[in-house]
Amino acid sequence: MKKILVTGGLGFIGSHTVVELQNAGYEVVIIDDLSNSKIDVLEKITEITGVQPDFHQIDLRIKEDVHRFFNSVAIDGIIHFAAFKAVGESMQKPLDYYENNIGSLVYLLQEMKNRALDHFIFSSSCTVYGQADSLPINENAPIKKASSTYGNTKQIGEEIIAESCNAYGMNAIALRYFNPIGAHESIKIGELPLGVPQNLIPFITQTAAGIRKELSVFGNDYPTPDGTAIRDYIHVVDLAKAHLSALTRLLHKKNNSNFEFFNVGTGTGSSVLDVIKAFETASGSSLNYVIKPRREGDITAAYADTTLANKELNWKTEKSLEEGLSAAWKWQQKQS
Ligand code: WQD
Repeated sequence: MKKILVTGGLGFIGSHTVVELQNAGYEVVIIDDLSNSKIDVLEKITEITGVQPDFHQIDLRIKEDVHRFFNSVAIDGIIHFAAFKAVGESMQKPLDYYENNIGSLVYLLQEMKNRALDHFIFSSSCTVYGQADSLPINENAPIKKASSTYGNTKQIGEEIIAESCNAYGMNAIALRYFNPIGAHESIKIGELPLGVPQNLIPFITQTAAGIRKELSVFGNDYPTPDGTAIRDYIHVVDLAKAHLSALTRLLHKKNNSNFEFFNVGTGTGSSVLDVIKAFETASGSSLNYVIKPRREGDITAAYADTTLANKELNWKTEKSLEEGLSAAWKWQQKQS
């Protein structure tokens, strides 16, 4: 049985990926520092799959602790989620973001190099494209100067991985996520934003739950059909399965080069107003929202050209926006 290290494995996308890995017969080891996740997610994963993953609470910024872990556990691959990910916060705390998102990546790659480990999957983001010149966005779209420190850590991260694979003979895949939403069908795991949600869907569900007074729609003067910004909202379970497909590709040596990257989205763009309407249908409740000015740094539109991922990963999304919103709403209603 192959053993896979999942860093950030108690987080939103990480926990859903652990479930899919275990369902596929992999042994999973989780590293998480619990800075943006809760330990009870481990129990929920176990309830879903019937198997408790091995868990180590480690801060990947501490090189000695990373080294000690790799001295004690033999693994066959790494899926690296652990990172700070709040776009706005990254602009206030750039050095924290570089230290964590880049520093921990370097320490992981150094351990892989020193132990001739292989098979690395990196959590990247469509943010690397900025506002793409043409839509849908394919993998040939140029990487533009990042508009946030968070986005820059993803761009730099990809470069570090590419150069490491080239120099040391490792094999890696970066998955460039669009906008993850939803929750597992068991409603035992889902998105747990700390504090005031930055992302659209948790803000919507907290507004519907009465936790927030109203949703601010950031701008209705974009050059889009209804004036609100367009994104590609992908169900987190579909996204988790893309990681499984990428891992299979590497373990079976199907990759065409030692560093590959794929856009992982549904291929469909939805505006903020589209999402609100779909949520109202999915939840059966009307949402309280007001139009506010644009949020600084936001782009007009982004949605994926999924051709390459569909073909090379033998993967495609199966769940709809409505299913994602319905699961997110059920998950919100379970929160105390
Ligand atoms: C989506 C749309 C907002 C909140 C970022 C990162 C990406 C990933 C997901 C980490 C935009 C609008 C939002 C609100 C709103 N990050 N909005 N009112 O900015 O597309 O992507 O988060 O994994 O890498 O770049 O996601 O959910 O913040 O915004 O109108 O209260 O919803 O303006 O158009 P975004 P988002």
